Amino acid sequence: MTSRHPVQVTGAMLALALLAGCKDMPDVIKPGTKQVAQHGYAGVGMQTTYDPDDVAKTAAYNQAPKPLPPAPPGPPGQYKNVQVLTDISAAEFGRTMTSMSSWVAGGAGNCAYCHNTANFAHDSLNGQPIYTKLVARMMLRMTRRINADYTQHVAGTGVTCYTCHRGQPLPNGLWFYSTENQVLRHYLDRDDLRVQSHTIEPNDGNRTAIRQTYNTYALMITQSKALGVNCTYCHNSRNWASWEQSTPKRVLAYYAAAMLRDLNMNYLNPLQPVYPAGRLGEYGDAPKAQCITCHNGIYKPLYGAKMVKDYPALWGAPGWDSIAGPLDVTGKPLYDGKPFTAPVPTPMGAKMSAASTTATAVGVDMAMGTTPAPAMPAASPVPARTMP
Ligand code: HEC
Ligand code: HEC
Ligand code: HEC
Ligand code: HEC
Repeated sequence: MTSRHPVQVTGAMLALALLAGCKDMPDVIKPGTKQVAQHGYAGVGMQTTYDPDDVAKTAAYNQAPKPLPPAPPGPPGQYKNVQVLTDISAAEFGRTMTSMSSWVAGGAGNCAYCHNTANFAHDSLNGQPIYTKLVARMMLRMTRRINADYTQHVAGTGVTCYTCHRGQPLPNGLWFYSTENQVLRHYLDRDDLRVQSHTIEPNDGNRTAIRQTYNTYALMITQSKALGVNCTYCHNSRNWASWEQSTPKRVLAYYAAAMLRDLNMNYLNPLQPVYPAGRLGEYGDAPKAQCITCHNGIYKPLYGAKMVKDYPALWGAPGWDSIAGPLDVTGKPLYDGKPFTAPVPTPMGAKMSAASTTATAVGVDMAMGTTPAPAMPAASPVPARTMP
């Protein structure tokens, strides 16, 4: 809850306010104007409760910047040390560099954040590696991986550097190892989140230790906060474990955890030797991502603005010159070809119709592991690292 007229609340004022029949109560002690967005059958509590003041504040932070004017098609440029962006035109290359500067380094002209401006091909300056350029190259690989291989989760919305970076070098929700029981390790090298026993007698499948339960709930709270939703956005709270009674969003969230394991294990954690000591955690590990790093408090990053369709350098799909955006698993373009429009902020995703409030049988099977999910690449082996 927030205050439009910040007032120091003292016991006496509180008493006075109460005596005055609550009429002029300062905002700080009002319960706040809560509203409810229903997204399931009436009467079963399938709804998200939100504060319009908070929505207004979050909306301002989650506006996608307008894309730069498109670059004409053409052959790739002649470069000395380009390893990822080998398949885009010279004009598109320059446009991508300019956009990257404003998405990550605070301004379109800030090439020096990543470059030795005396020689843009160098990865070092005065004999020292430029870690920002090396990290950025890995980020290009990671962003292409997300947009090309995780359409199951990111769909046609996709991600650009801005989705996570918001004009800053350091995105939100960075985390490092802390303890062996750290809940966020679900997004790295631990799974088995299911805690609710499905048998009466204890057995191997009965993971109901208090610690495990605590971890599950803690992680669930971080997911809800990351998306700005209630638990019932994904679950039917009368049975947390049941996939059949969950909404389709829960299946998407399940894929997100798999995607995050891949991003953290194969892209972010392996950058450890590249970072300066000041960027590493207390156990010397590299910074990692979680749901809020992309979502920033919203059910869909940037309210689903399809920013990436205007940045072919970030699709990583062959034949980008002739195709209107990334492709889905069947090879069809994901885009409708409509020009960029900033989506209208709403507290929730599109209202789910009653018929779509439960996960589809196929989705459930995929989440349970009985039907293989299409286009979900397996994570490569875990890189060596020091663990608490
Ligand atoms: C966030 C980091 C970052 C920023 C900011 C950035 N670049 Fe780059 N730049 C890179 C990376 C990474 C590569 C290598 C790409 C690859 O390997 O595919 C690169 C490569 C280049 C190259 C190719 C050099 C060669 O011959 O190998 C040029 C030219 C270039 N950038 C120009 C610019 C200009 C001009 C700006 C400012 C408008 C800029 N860059 C801003 C990260 C950045
Ligand atoms: C999924 C989220 C995500 C996306 C998308 C993403 N990044 Fe990052 N980026 C991170 C995380 C997490 C870090 C670690 C932050 C740190 O350095 O402490 C990071 C760090 C960086 C850094 C080092 C910052 C520093 O000063 O330590 C650079 C440079 C960078 N990213 C560039 C890019 C570029 C360029 C793109 C787009 C091609 C991009 N990132 C896309 C999550 C992301
Ligand atoms: C964005 C979707 C999402 C939200 C929001 C969410 N959950 Fe979950 N929840 C999941 C997914 C996905 C799993 C299964 C994870 C797995 O199996 O790896 C899960 C699993 C669980 C489980 C374990 C069920 C079992 O099989 O034992 C419990 C309990 C749970 N959630 C409670 C909550 C609570 C309480 C909240 C609100 C604080 C919440 N969830 C919010 C997606 C969500
Ligand atoms: C790499 C960035 C990224 C990360 C990390 C990420 N998401 Fe997403 N997520 C997206 C994008 C982009 C969309 C929009 C897809 C679309 O347009 O349908 C999305 C959509 C969703 C949706 C569907 C929302 C709706 O209303 O349809 C859910 C649920 C969701 N994410 C949950 C999660 C959870 C839970 C996590 C962490 C375990 C997570 N996401 C991590 C990028 C990300």
